[in-house]
Amino acid sequence: MKRTLRLMLAGAVVALTASCSAPKSEIDRKVDDLLSKMTLREKVGQMNQLSGGAELAAVAAKGEMGSVLNCVDVKQLNAIQKAAVEESRLGIPVLISRDVIHGFRTIFPIPIGLAATFDPAIAEEGARISAVEATANGIRWTFSPMLDIARDPRWGRVAEGSGEDPYLDVQMGVAMVKGYQGEDLSDPASMAACIKHFVGYGAAEGGRDYNSTMISERSLRNTYFPAFKAAAEAGAATLMTSFNEIDGIPSTGNKWLLKDVLRDEWGWKGMVVTDWNSAGEMIAHGFSRDLKHTAEQAINAGVDMDMMSYGFIQYVEELVKEGKVSEKDIDNAVRNILKLKFELGLFENPYIDETASAKVDYAPEHLEAAKKAAVESAILLQNKGNVLPLDKAKTILVTGPLADAPYEQLGTWAFDGQPEHTVTPLTALRKEYNVIWEPGLKYSRDNDRSSFAKVRAAASRADAAVVFVGEEAILSGEAHSLSNLNLQGAQSELIAEVAKAGKPVVVVVMAGRPLTIERDLANCDAMLYSFHPGTMGGPALADLIKGKAVPSGKTPMTFLRDAGQAPFYYNHNNSGRPCHGTETLLNDIPIAAGQTSLGCTSYYLDSGYGPLFPFGYGLSYSTFEYGNPVLEKAEYGKDDVIKASVELRNTGKYEATEIVQLYVRDLVGSVVRPVKELKGFERVTLAPGDSKTVTFELPVSDLAFWNIDMEYVVEPGDFNLWIAGDSATGESVNFTIR
Ligand code: BGC
Repeated sequence: MKRTLRLMLAGAVVALTASCSAPKSEIDRKVDDLLSKMTLREKVGQMNQLSGGAELAAVAAKGEMGSVLNCVDVKQLNAIQKAAVEESRLGIPVLISRDVIHGFRTIFPIPIGLAATFDPAIAEEGARISAVEATANGIRWTFSPMLDIARDPRWGRVAEGSGEDPYLDVQMGVAMVKGYQGEDLSDPASMAACIKHFVGYGAAEGGRDYNSTMISERSLRNTYFPAFKAAAEAGAATLMTSFNEIDGIPSTGNKWLLKDVLRDEWGWKGMVVTDWNSAGEMIAHGFSRDLKHTAEQAINAGVDMDMMSYGFIQYVEELVKEGKVSEKDIDNAVRNILKLKFELGLFENPYIDETASAKVDYAPEHLEAAKKAAVESAILLQNKGNVLPLDKAKTILVTGPLADAPYEQLGTWAFDGQPEHTVTPLTALRKEYNVIWEPGLKYSRDNDRSSFAKVRAAASRADAAVVFVGEEAILSGEAHSLSNLNLQGAQSELIAEVAKAGKPVVVVVMAGRPLTIERDLANCDAMLYSFHPGTMGGPALADLIKGKAVPSGKTPMTFLRDAGQAPFYYNHNNSGRPCHGTETLLNDIPIAAGQTSLGCTSYYLDSGYGPLFPFGYGLSYSTFEYGNPVLEKAEYGKDDVIKASVELRNTGKYEATEIVQLYVRDLVGSVVRPVKELKGFERVTLAPGDSKTVTFELPVSDLAFWNIDMEYVVEPGDFNLWIAGDSATGESVNFTIR
């Protein structure tokens, strides 16, 4: 019989410490003092967040707005702040917020691209740079990072997160929180982070944005919570609720999520904001009767601040009078808001220095870091005959709608990035090659093939062709779900046309999600997948194409053959009939075949057994050889640390970086366990011919999960462990937990 090893819950520890009456901090005293002077109207005013510009100064003067979003005009912001500080009765400053998602001016690769770097350090640096630029422009609160696990590339917002894996999500999310918030929130260059969208938003039915989700509590805890919990423990100052409902309860009205889990279990002390009108939208869900009811439900569930439903400001006083909302709950919400304002030093330093941004926007070191991130985020998916790098070519054809699209390559949520600062691949490649430039198509959805013959003729004159395809920025991100994930317009046809010239063809895909590019792979020699690479995408890609840099990115999401395979992710549970890879496919079925269950396993007749590329996949210009993983011992107790090593050798001709990945499988559990789970990774750089023993130290406690009794435990038993270059390869070794 299995013995269950109970782990002490971090939440329980926090709850315990919180129950001892800790001495009040200076900030708590200031908050209490201010709160004691506030009228109910003024309290509700703090809970109200509005979007707009100069016109909001009048609202701030009345003390009816705690936070503003979407204004980046420094003069207007200072005017709003002046109204709040000098004209409102208590002079409480307004908290200025913005969606600074992957850079403010200097735009980094979109978050899914950053995740492809498997490099939390570059994510942290990117977030720090975002904070430096955004705070110089007055923004002290960003709505980032997005921690939603995304297993369905039809969902447009996969662009904004770290993909399908909880462990990678934790690493990138925590790094970004640290980067935004810096050492101390009171530093004028620090910006409060907002972990969003709590929770399950990425599991929208059919990948249709905002849609319903049906996620079990166990799955929430094992898969969707970890990054939120880790980022909360790392000190994330704020959290945003999500638009979706889970099992019939909209997150913004979900007391279990916002109070029982977040506050009581995790002991988190930050501030909760709704998503844009997500309180008001509970009416459309059919969860609230009217706007007044939404305010009652959201506040009672544990929301502190209302983004743009206007429900709180209109109805809270009535609700308190009627006894439907307690003033104690209002006080708690306002405490969380005021505490953040004190922590940010807004009371001492409310105004923006109007000359500050000019000193930091697009600073050379910011551009350098953005370029490094873009280099690391590009994934080499194919390189037939090692055509890349194009180090010998002199004349190249550059074509495709994304080759010179300064706005599009910035990707979604790049409000403040100025396209005139973007360096496109065309510009950068002109420094390296004699370039023949033929756009071929004007934009990614363009179907006009009238210049194809010209493009093909140009390809014949070049030593090689580089085709830049993908998605315009607007095709991914919020509310931009797609049911067909092939390249839009005539982009695939453009690639095929170029291929007819018989020259080496390199395709670069700049997109907001993993597209279904199988047919395009057949028409090119090499493919680099760069997602939307940001301001410095051009120089980064030019370095990779020329061979001044070597690709190292790995897929942060499974790449599908066909959108119909979605959702498809590596860390799934096994069915009782797992696919073995030799099953009958569509065209193998005889005509007039009799009723049969064919292979009797879980797969598609048409798109086959597996994905196009597994999670964690990516090639290099070099090659790496992995030895078999070696474990220090075969049996461990609950307090042990598993030491697992592998010999990695660079067997190619380039100095290159490999992302070495550690996976485990818990073979038998009290509930079904995923077939593989990422538990560690390391970026390892090796010179040609060099080798290194890469060692992971995995605490046994990291194998815990929410079991049949909904306890967070490590269950004794047998496990497999892999150390490999992706989630689909490598030999496993076994170990046992006693
Ligand atoms: C999005 C959030 C965003 C907010 C504020 C909403 O539509 O879902 O992610 O932070 O708008 O712009």
